[in-house]
Amino acid sequence: MTETKLNVLVLHGPNLNLTGFREPELYGKKPLSEIDNDIQEAAKALNIDVRILQSNHEGVLIDTIQEHRTWANAVLINPGALTHYSVALRDALVSIRLPVVEIHMSNVHAREEFRSKSVIAPVCVGTIAGFGSEGYMLGLRAIRHLEQSTV
Ligand code: DQA
Repeated sequence: MTETKLNVLVLHGPNLNLTGFREPELYGKKPLSEIDNDIQEAAKALNIDVRILQSNHEGVLIDTIQEHRTWANAVLINPGALTHYSVALRDALVSIRLPVVEIHMSNVHAREEFRSKSVIAPVCVGTIAGFGSEGYMLGLRAIRHLEQSTV
């Protein structure tokens, strides 16, 4: 493996702990613990170290982002419903001055109108939506690609 080692903070926002049980037609049947295993495996193959956290609490997500600002090279985040209104989360992501990739398992643009607005997207390098849990793996690849091309 010739690629530089990268550290990526992976965050899952509110209600994502119920993935697998919650609206499986939208978010799939795989529990979050299995998705996290997939993320760990995919990360290893890309020479990426990941730290993964799920929280239902905006403040915990913000504290975690701040605490990882010197460890992480990039952040992969599915902010859940916070996507649509959390200016505090957006400010935290801007504050750490790291590339951020936003993930949504569902296609937020094909759902209720309020879901097509993201206050997080404008401070991200890009957004991946609509590919189920595979979106996290695509996000890791996007971060690796970013490092090779710009960072
Ligand atoms: C979600 C989409 C959000 O609108 C929703 O509130 C979620 C999950 C997704 O992964 O598709 O909790 O972020």
